[in-house]
Amino acid sequence: MLKEIDLDYEVCNCLKITIQDIINSVKNNNVKSLRDLQETTKAGTECRNCIFPEGDFGKVKKKVYCKTILKGVLNG
Ligand code: FES
Repeated sequence: MLKEIDLDYEVCNCLKITIQDIINSVKNNNVKSLRDLQETTKAGTECRNCIFPEGDFGKVKKKVYCKTILKGVLNG
């Protein structure tokens, strides 16, 4: 799934966090949960539209969400 989307895709526009940033945070900062991710990168801590699809109240929907990416990265 992640491979179909550019790793430079900015999933969190508020904090300018890309898919690659999330991958890096798992690899380098021992991020294991959404909470860890938010503490480390601040992704999903402003408008919160980027966390998961049901919580996306933005006009333009995201291609992918923080939770989905995190799950994908943690499961290899
Ligand atoms: S897009 Fe991530 S908090 Fe707004």
